[in-house]
Amino acid sequence: MQDQSQPQGQAWIEFDPHDPGFAETGIPFDTLAQIREQRVYRTAAGAWYVARHDDVAAVLTDVDAFRADLGPITGIPAGVETIPAEQHYLSEIAEPRHKAIRRLITASMSSARLARLEPRLRDVCGRMVEAMIAAPVANLHDDYAMAIPAFAMAHVMDLDESAVAHFTAWSWDGTLLQRPSSPDVSSAGPASHVFFAEYLAAQRALPEPSNDLLRLLIEARIDGVPLSDAEIVTQLHFLIQAGVHTTRALLTHLYNRLVQDPALWRTLADDRGMIDRFVEESLRRDAPVQRTTRRCTRHIDFAGVAMRKGDLVEVGIGSANHDETRFEEGASFRLDRPNPRAHLAFGAGSHICPGAALARLEARISIEVLLDRVERAEAIAGAVYPPIPGSLGHKPVPARLVPRAAAGDI
Ligand code: HEM
Repeated sequence: MQDQSQPQGQAWIEFDPHDPGFAETGIPFDTLAQIREQRVYRTAAGAWYVARHDDVAAVLTDVDAFRADLGPITGIPAGVETIPAEQHYLSEIAEPRHKAIRRLITASMSSARLARLEPRLRDVCGRMVEAMIAAPVANLHDDYAMAIPAFAMAHVMDLDESAVAHFTAWSWDGTLLQRPSSPDVSSAGPASHVFFAEYLAAQRALPEPSNDLLRLLIEARIDGVPLSDAEIVTQLHFLIQAGVHTTRALLTHLYNRLVQDPALWRTLADDRGMIDRFVEESLRRDAPVQRTTRRCTRHIDFAGVAMRKGDLVEVGIGSANHDETRFEEGASFRLDRPNPRAHLAFGAGSHICPGAALARLEARISIEVLLDRVERAEAIAGAVYPPIPGSLGHKPVPARLVPRAAAGDI
């Protein structure tokens, strides 16, 4: 039966953008292609799912009509307007305040800081790869993809190694998707808020904060007013949410594909110049963030439908990246695309991801180190590999890593 809530004249398509089953079955890209044909889709929950590349870009860039709202994924379906302002994540903050806070946050990802990270990252990846080679069966999800983003985030935030274990744990157990106002969370907030609140208090107690990022946040004045502790803690928590989960997904997709495609492994081993193309094509074909959400701030006619103030809009980044009008054979994985960076995996407009360079660095270095030390990765017969993309799940990616022969062994 035609669902009456669908835009007029459109066939009924069954699709729930939040279906947790996608972690097992993979994203139904054929269904998304059907939705792109009819342009926009009304979900059973009453949200508008926007599927085409141009529409997705337009929603992301029109920050006046479409405000980011991560309420639903943090257990608060009523949305951003019901969440205390000091708990608004950077993406949810309206201009001009957003720009002022974003400037402080991006200082932690300067090219100088990333250049300092590179040798340390190479070193830590080298140790992880040696440990995986020594194991009878390596798990490239748990032992590589999970560990690298937590290490990198601790570096950019100027925190010591003790933070790495916390970041990994919070990514595993869902802490990163909680705010103090999420259901069943204590008033002190999730564990990450408690951690950052204590760290902030310790930094404030020093004659001069020793942590560069904290110093910037403490000393900042917006219209002459400092940020509150709660605001600072919220943004530190959000940095981990935005930088750990997402990059872990990207790395898992990359390693999973490499393990399952020995020819691809050889291509990259023979020509390291292809690694960047591999990473971009993965970001496009297998977007780690498949969708993001917006709330209409006013009535707006968009994509052929009348959206009302307060409507939720699901922004189909993963679908946009497969749009055939932009990417020939959009569902195929190809290293020879003429426009490898034309994807929307990092968003668009004034909220475009400030961590993109860091994520790309983690991907490139971790693959280079693998290729330097490992001759080939053998998939394990009978093992069930997660779908690609499988961003939602924490699934193992098992492999036997065969080391390169040391010169003396030949
Ligand atoms: C492969 C890894 C990553 C992907 C796919 C990704 C994706 C995205 C996307 C799609 C957005 C825009 C969301 C929206 O407009 O609703 C975004 C924003 C953001 N990302 Fe990333 N991200 C990644 C890594 C990182 C890293 C490593 C960091 C931190 C170091 C980071 C920090 C942020 C922040 C703070 C925002 C909000 C920016 C703003 O609202 O101005 N991301 N990211």
